[in-house]
Amino acid sequence: MINYTEKIPNNVDLGRDRVLQRALEHWQPAYMGWWYDMGPNESHNYEVYLRTAISVEPDGWAQFGYVKMPDYRWGIFLQPRDEKREVNFGIHKGQSAWQEVPGEYRSTLRRVIVTQGDTEPASVEQQRMLGTSCPSMYDLRNIFQVNVEEGRHLWAMVYLLHRYFGRDGREEAESLLARRSGDADNPRILGAFNEATPDWLAFYMFTFFTDRDGKFQLCALAESGFDPLARTCRFMLTEEAHHMFVGETGVSRIIQRTCEVMKENKVEDPSDVRALGVIDLPTIQRYLNFHYSVTLDLYGSDVSSNAANYYTSGLKGRFRETKLNDDHVLTDAEYPVFEVVGGKIITKNVPALTALNERLRDDYIDEIADGVARWQRVIDSAGIPFRLTLPHKGFHREIGNFAGHLISPDGEVLSEEAWKNHEFEWLPNSKDYAYVQSLMSGRVVEPGKFANWIAPPARGINNQPLNFEYVRFN
Ligand SMILES: [Fe+2]
Ligand SMILES: [Fe+2]
Repeated sequence: MINYTEKIPNNVDLGRDRVLQRALEHWQPAYMGWWYDMGPNESHNYEVYLRTAISVEPDGWAQFGYVKMPDYRWGIFLQPRDEKREVNFGIHKGQSAWQEVPGEYRSTLRRVIVTQGDTEPASVEQQRMLGTSCPSMYDLRNIFQVNVEEGRHLWAMVYLLHRYFGRDGREEAESLLARRSGDADNPRILGAFNEATPDWLAFYMFTFFTDRDGKFQLCALAESGFDPLARTCRFMLTEEAHHMFVGETGVSRIIQRTCEVMKENKVEDPSDVRALGVIDLPTIQRYLNFHYSVTLDLYGSDVSSNAANYYTSGLKGRFRETKLNDDHVLTDAEYPVFEVVGGKIITKNVPALTALNERLRDDYIDEIADGVARWQRVIDSAGIPFRLTLPHKGFHREIGNFAGHLISPDGEVLSEEAWKNHEFEWLPNSKDYAYVQSLMSGRVVEPGKFANWIAPPARGINNQPLNFEYVRFN
């Protein structure tokens, strides 16, 4: 169970380490200052029907009840320790998992933790204005749930920095509250976390695509030989699942509503669809193309010596590392990556160790493809002849072997002119954004009511009815 009697709820026996406790209690007001500034706009007095972790065991870790978000019990929750756990890959394979940071990996590990930690507050900042245009109380509650949990993920990384990285760690923890998404002078570390999330379609796309990058990064870190990091990430993953659920069902409900309206009114032309106040399918495809491609960049370069080092040192594993059937050292293995040579995309085998970013990206793409197939089924069952597709992996990329090349969604290498002619058929254009924005000019908050452009969900949260009062405005 988690100790909620302490100022900082935790299951790491924080009270026994006075120095650490004081350091974190010092960081806490700074965190609250950040939440008041950058957390959901105008929400501080709302009472929100939230789940809070009460235990880290897989069953029954969540308790539901009304909470004012500034009173949410952010804290430090690690999966219980397995005394027999080992380093499961790389050159230290077979050693006992590390309970302290190995000196030679200190700065690398700190960098990995800071990079992960930075994404958590970033997404809260990106989403902070969306409450003012929510399509329902149910959705408003969901975005708040995602936001408080991203806040907790920041706590999770800050705990590791404070506990294991001394003064450097404390400074990094402060910087995590100082950077701002999209800020020209002090931006967040990774590109996708500096993009705007201007509307709810973007929010659902973000939670489907970009929170899923979070899942895959956490899965790779959950394999880490540094045991406290692994245990922290394991618990974060239970929260991440809900974020991706919000994204997948959100997009699915938008598609469903669009298809209903298209069928009822027997229209197919996007401008006719828009005239009926729902989001046309080509616009949804363009949003998909954008969020997918910027998220693919988050995995880093296709060929990366850093990725090889992280793996060889036992710091960051592969997706489901311990379930894979190989030597977990990868000295002789190869892996295919794409390259653009002479106007053509070719495949080239490289040492598997150097291609670990690409491999994680491919694992991610498999899961994404399944989700997109589920969206397609909504369109198909409405009998509408429209295909949602994932663009080519090289489309609209800025990092890795495709950077600097212009690739069409079909995987054709284009001239700059050809790209310019089609760019905004493939990516959301200013009219798309303006149209979607026009649908979301105000919020829908009457219990049980949903905006015209989205279908209600199949069921409520925690078995509550759809017309449940998920948020009480004070
Ligand atoms: Fe997160
Ligand atoms: Fe998340």
